[in-house]
Amino acid sequence: MTARLVLGIESSCDETAAAVVDASGLVLSDVIASQHAVHGPFGGIVPELASRAHVENLVPVLEGALSAVPGGLGAIDAIAVTAGPGLNGALLVGLSAAKAMAWARGLPLVAVDHLDAHLHAIFLQRGPVREAVPEFPFVALLASGGHTALYRVDGPGRRALLGQTRDDAAGEAFDKTAKLLGLGYPGGPRIDALAATGDASRVPLPRPMAQKGSLELSFSGLKTAVARWVEEHGVPEGAALADVAAAVQAAIVESLVKKSIAACEQENVPRLVLAGGVAANRGLRARAAELAARRRIALFVPPPRSCTDNAAMIAWCGFAQLAEGRLAGPELAPYSRSADVVRGKIRRPRPPRSAP
Ligand code: KG4
Ligand code: ZN
Repeated sequence: MTARLVLGIESSCDETAAAVVDASGLVLSDVIASQHAVHGPFGGIVPELASRAHVENLVPVLEGALSAVPGGLGAIDAIAVTAGPGLNGALLVGLSAAKAMAWARGLPLVAVDHLDAHLHAIFLQRGPVREAVPEFPFVALLASGGHTALYRVDGPGRRALLGQTRDDAAGEAFDKTAKLLGLGYPGGPRIDALAATGDASRVPLPRPMAQKGSLELSFSGLKTAVARWVEEHGVPEGAALADVAAAVQAAIVESLVKKSIAACEQENVPRLVLAGGVAANRGLRARAAELAARRRIALFVPPPRSCTDNAAMIAWCGFAQLAEGRLAGPELAPYSRSADVVRGKIRRPRPPRSAP
C-alpha cells in the first residue's frame, strides 16, 4: 500500500519519541522525551526505570507529535513502531500503544528494526533544503550506545554485516570512560564538548584494533587504559581533564574511521554513511570528512538530531515496508537482539547487487 503520512513510535532504550514523516522523508514533527535525568544518578540505564518513564512520557509525546500536524491522528495513514532490538519492558510500552492506536483507528501497523532505522536516518529531510542522499549500495558505520558495526546496505532494510565490535559499543566506551572521569551519563556529548579544548597528544592511549585486514573493533582495552591512568594520576580537572577527553575521543574516532574506510575499500563501494548516537560526535564527523575526501569516498552524515534516537527514522523505515506489504498484527512481540548481530560471529555478507 502507499501512505502519505506515517506516525513513528520509538521506546527501545532511554528516549520516548514520536514523529510524523511524509513519503518524501520530510519530518513534519519530531518529539523526544529524554530520560537522562532519570538514569544520570546511576551512571547508566536502569531498565525498570526506563519502562516506567516511557509509560509516563508516551502520551504527552504522542500528543505533541500529532498536534503539530494538520488533522492530527485523523491524517495518519499508518503507524510504525520499534519492535527491537532494545529493552523488552521499554519496547513493550511503544508496541502496546502502537497496537492500540492501529486497532482503534483501523490503521496498518509496521514493525521496524531500530538498527535499520539508524542506517536509513540519512534519508530524512529536516527543513526546506534537500540534502544529498546516497545511492544504494553504501557502507554504513552504525555506532550507538548498544551497537557498533559496519554494514553494506543494499536497499531499504537490506543490510549485510561486515564487522562489529568484539566487546563494548563505541557509545558505551564514551559513557564508561566519562564515568571514570566523573562526567556523568551520557558521557559521549560531555567528552565531545571537553575534547574541543584538549590536546590528545598529552595522554597516550592505545588505538584499539588498528591492525589492517580486519573489520572487527574493540573498545574494552581503552576503558581499562583510562581506568589505569585515573588510578595513577587521579581524576583530572581543568585542562588535564580536557586532554584526557580529547585522547579518549581521538582513540575511539581513529579506529571507527579507519575501519569504515577499510570497509568501503573492501566492498569497493565509495559511499560512506555515519549513523547512530556516536555519529553526532564532532571529532568523528571531522576526521571522517578528512579521510573520506583523501580516499575519494563520498561521505553522508545526518544532522545530530537524526543520529541520536528519534522516531522520525522509525516512521521513514515504515514507508518501505508498507510499500512491500510487510504489515504486523496484534501478535507482534518485542525482541532484544538482532539476528545478524551475534557477538563473536559474523554472517558472510552477500555480494552487492549492483556495481558501485
Ligand atoms: O543511537 P543512540 O541515541 O541510542 C542507542 O541506540 O544506543 O546512541 C546513544 C549513545 C550514547 O552512548 C551517547 O553517549 C552517544 O551515543 N553519543 C555521543 C554523542 N552524542 C551521543 N557520543 C559521542 N559524542 C557525541 N556528541
Ligand atoms: Zn539507537
